Amino acid sequence: MSVRICQSALEAVSIIESNEIIWTHSMAATPRVLFEALAVHAKTKTNLTLLQLHTERSEALSDKSLSGHLRHRCYFSSTPTRSLLASGDADYVPIFLSEVPKLFRSGEQEIDTAIIQVSPPDKHGMCTMGVAVEATNAACQVAKKIIAHINPNMPRTHGDSFIAYDRFHSVYWQDDDLPIHTMAAQDEITQTIGKNVARLINDGDCLQMGIGAIPDAVLACLYDRKDLGIHTEMFSDGVLDLVESGAINNKLKKVHPGKIVTGFALGSQRLYDFVDDNPQVVFLDIEYVNDTSIIRRNDNVAAINSALQVDITGQVCADSIGTHIYSGVGGQMDFIRGAGLSKGGKAVIALPSTASKGAISRIVPTLSNGAGVVTTRAHVQYIVTEYGIANLRGKSLRERAQALIEIAHPNFREQLKQQVNELWEFAV
Ligand code: COA
Repeated sequence: MSVRICQSALEAVSIIESNEIIWTHSMAATPRVLFEALAVHAKTKTNLTLLQLHTERSEALSDKSLSGHLRHRCYFSSTPTRSLLASGDADYVPIFLSEVPKLFRSGEQEIDTAIIQVSPPDKHGMCTMGVAVEATNAACQVAKKIIAHINPNMPRTHGDSFIAYDRFHSVYWQDDDLPIHTMAAQDEITQTIGKNVARLINDGDCLQMGIGAIPDAVLACLYDRKDLGIHTEMFSDGVLDLVESGAINNKLKKVHPGKIVTGFALGSQRLYDFVDDNPQVVFLDIEYVNDTSIIRRNDNVAAINSALQVDITGQVCADSIGTHIYSGVGGQMDFIRGAGLSKGGKAVIALPSTASKGAISRIVPTLSNGAGVVTTRAHVQYIVTEYGIANLRGKSLRERAQALIEIAHPNFREQLKQQVNELWEFAV
């Protein structure tokens, strides 16, 4: 097959026909240049479907004028798709992140075209998927056509990231910067949550954590730890200082010892420079990274994730605010369960005790109508807020309620007690 070298992004996406199902590369590898072209091309077509995880800088394709031409089908929602979901103009598919590649490989979800962003071909004719392998590796294996934006600024990464240039149907070369997420400023509450979670982290633990202020606050407290490892679906800048200080050396890991294992990375230019051509960091297929049978093979896995709401029995809502879809299931359950199965493992949900500037308690007697349970009360272990740590494993519903009220915001504790006593069949 000969690769069609295009003079414009519009020419590259012009091979997409009406009724096609398209997969897009995501996170910091969201092909913004192709998105902008597709926003124009889609208007000449009907009934396109765009399958996706979290995308960055994807506003061009979130315009309501694309209704009837292109519809988003989200395995994870991000800022541009949230309002489309809210108005019924996009669809949300709840699914474990580890299952997304399986949907593709099994043929349950067909893909006509994958649109991706890659690093330039090396002397062997291999490009790389750069800073995001996630489900794009699987999508490229099954897609009938692949359209690639070749970006000289995309880091060349190791692992399952490699893809041969001659597999592309059309390519378009252009320099583009990657989205930059600098470390979030940490307020006092976040710092306290970070300190509380850090109390659970021991020398030799193998960490999974997401992006954001809480993970960075936890990492900032780990400088005096030794022999930490990383096996995670994603990582960001907080990890870099610990690699440089020697606290993270990955030497005790049983799966890929000596290496950071990840599915994608999102952060600053410093992070992108760190992963560039760095054999210490392996970007692997998310079906493998998030497989509980792989995660559990490392001892002392510490999975640290967050939540929007937790009920008094330990049910964790992380993808919606009531009936409003906010994000997605992602890899939370993959890692909560993987950590639960790992020898010495710890599954942590860390969240501020309140939302809306303190007006709402995130610890509630029952979840809001429509709230989606991501981590069930049988899988949950530690819940951490700025007021402390509640270990729910092995505790009864009554004991859980007591433990969670203790780490709720003091303004809500009395009210929570009363509500629990009214609503539940036990008293606290
Ligand atoms: N009621 C009303 N609003 C709430 C709320 C509640 N119970 N909980 C949170 N909010 C609001 C917050 O005030 C905030 O609003 P703002 O943006 O106006 O300030 C917004 O919702 C987001 O809350 P926040 O706590 O800042 O979210 P976050 O960015 O820390 O993300 C999750 C938290 C749960 C959404 C995120 O961790 C997630 O998507 N998890 C699922 C996937 C996962 O865990 N994957 C594995 C790790 S990569």
